[in-house]
Amino acid sequence: MKKAGSLNRLYPKYREMKIVTVIGARPQFIKAAAVSRAIANHQHKIEEIIVHTGQHYDKNMSDIFFDELKIKKPTYNLGISGTGHGEMTGDMLKGIEKILLEEKPDVILIYGDTNSTLAASIAGSKLHIPIAHVEAGLRSFNMHMPEEINRILSDRVSKYLFCPTDTAIKNLKTEGFPFKNQHMVNVGDVMEDAALFYKHIAAENLAVLNTNNIESGNYNLATIHRAENTDNPIHLKNMVEGLNEISKQKQVIVPLHPRTKKKLQEQNLKIDFTIIDPVGYLDMINLINHSFLVVTDSGGLQKEAFFFNKFCITMREETEWVELVNGGFNMLVGSNKNKMAKAYAEFSKREFKKTENYYGGGKASENIVEYLLKHN
Ligand code: UD1
Ligand code: UDP
Repeated sequence: MKKAGSLNRLYPKYREMKIVTVIGARPQFIKAAAVSRAIANHQHKIEEIIVHTGQHYDKNMSDIFFDELKIKKPTYNLGISGTGHGEMTGDMLKGIEKILLEEKPDVILIYGDTNSTLAASIAGSKLHIPIAHVEAGLRSFNMHMPEEINRILSDRVSKYLFCPTDTAIKNLKTEGFPFKNQHMVNVGDVMEDAALFYKHIAAENLAVLNTNNIESGNYNLATIHRAENTDNPIHLKNMVEGLNEISKQKQVIVPLHPRTKKKLQEQNLKIDFTIIDPVGYLDMINLINHSFLVVTDSGGLQKEAFFFNKFCITMREETEWVELVNGGFNMLVGSNKNKMAKAYAEFSKREFKKTENYYGGGKASENIVEYLLKHN
């Protein structure tokens, strides 16, 4: 620990803490933006070092988030990307271990369920460094998803299980959590913190609507990137046809993930929707906020649709955010184009009425930081 003596005298209730945050993929930059802002509010007590694994590396998949959301520049960038799961995770594990040995943090902060998350979990747990897992307890119960494996393994070796919902707590309890010395707490969802904070900044610049020649309320927003969808030619074809069908009702705008771009190029499908490059978070918030509804296989976007009072058609067979399905805000349609069209017709008739906020109301990041300060 750094300068503990003098700071402990100044702030006797707390110990000083050094956190190493490991991130690498687009949604993690957004989540970390919220938590790092909360950490910065306590910068006299906490030092944060950011490690970027390099998993996402295009300017509009990485740098744009650091710039726009004013995330502290990573101290380390491992530059590891684009390989298979084993090679990517293994290379990251090696790189992260080296940094942890050098930095000797009190806590490692990890987010979600990517290969970057898993690599940090393995590296940290083998070195006996307490791990704080943000978005603990989420489950799809589909072990074919790489994310499900990453999150189950990460939860098991984490000391702090920061759950976003009651469902996540319930999932963990069913699996026998918390195990010895684990802390399990529902802190709320850090993505809600991000949406609430950045929506005001985003609203100052609506250029994304003009640039793409779209009118508020008169288009649908869609994203596709899940491996189980992009890597299965039949699924991808069905989803494209489903989006083509929805486009007949209202234009569909798709900021296209590079993974999907590659697959679509290989498949030569007829496309009637509008593809644009991935956008930064501020433009994305505006695109969600002004859309008619959202169609996606993204995890994060399902909730953001809800935050901005939009229905969501989810092109997956299951979701980690079951409360949205149970509440009637989200429909699961898999890659079935008929179900997509049916869900669209149904949501077009329905009024969006929010009776409950499932995600904590925008205090998750502060809850996490306060908790760590009190229990580290
Ligand atoms: C990863 C996560 C997924 C998350 C998603 C967020 C894993 C196993 N998957 O999936 O959980 O939902 O990020 O977007 O960790 N690529 C580029 N440029 C980039 C980034 C990626 O061209 O900036 C290409 C890569 O070269 C690779 C492909 O996209 O060929 C997939 O990238 P990868 O990071 O392996 O997985 P994602 O599908 O992005
Ligand atoms: N997002 C973005 N620009 C885009 C597409 C998505 O900023 O072009 C944001 C989106 O609003 C959400 C996050 O990226 O906050 C979701 O990331 P993604 O869908 O890649 O991953 P997942 O949430 O499925 O893990």
